[in-house]
Amino acid sequence: MKSSHITWQTGEIDIHKREKLLQQKGVCLWFTGLSGSGKTTIARAVEKSLFERGYHSYVLDGDNIRYGLNGDLGFSAEDRRENIRRIGEVSKLFVDAGIITLTAFISPFRADRDAIRHLMESGRFIEIYVKCPMAVCEKRDVKGLYAKARRNEIEEFTGISSPYEAPENAEIVINTDSLSAEASLTRIIDYLIKNHIIEEK
Ligand code: ADX
Repeated sequence: MKSSHITWQTGEIDIHKREKLLQQKGVCLWFTGLSGSGKTTIARAVEKSLFERGYHSYVLDGDNIRYGLNGDLGFSAEDRRENIRRIGEVSKLFVDAGIITLTAFISPFRADRDAIRHLMESGRFIEIYVKCPMAVCEKRDVKGLYAKARRNEIEEFTGISSPYEAPENAEIVINTDSLSAEASLTRIIDYLIKNHIIEEK
């Protein structure tokens, strides 16, 4: 922390009042997985479903955030850590605002994801491991990045020249090589209903 002489300020309106107004619970659905595993696709499908059910949600997506807020960061371990740290803090604010926040970042380091879990009240951080074998992600190669990484045109590419640490205690695991997009969506919506985050409608 470089700042000193600062005091945390709170107003009369807290998360509980905002949740009551919005008629929903502020939570963070943290999607993690390899590039091309399906994080963004599933997060967008969940966002659409929540919208249609009348819930306020927002997707923070790795590629998009790197255009703006985190445009100064690359893919070294240090930059990825900072990328995730900032998004963790942004997510915490969104959750405090009462929003169902969906994040779609590779977020390859377990310690960084765990640190974000501890930023939030118990039950508000829901880790979703979008699990897909490297070989399948590479075969899909939606953005053509695996081929570039194999040709050494991209350095420190996750799964090839940079590590990915799989979650050990994710709340939800979605195997996208065997589960359809529709079934993945249902799995997540069911979890949210069962855990009283949204109501069955
Ligand atoms: S993270 O590791 O810091 O969490 P993030 O999710 O923000 O990564 O960004 C990953 C996206 O950036 C990938 O989906 C891919 O489109 C792109 N990308 C570009 N270079 C790399 C790289 N070296 N490793 C992984 N993804 C990369």
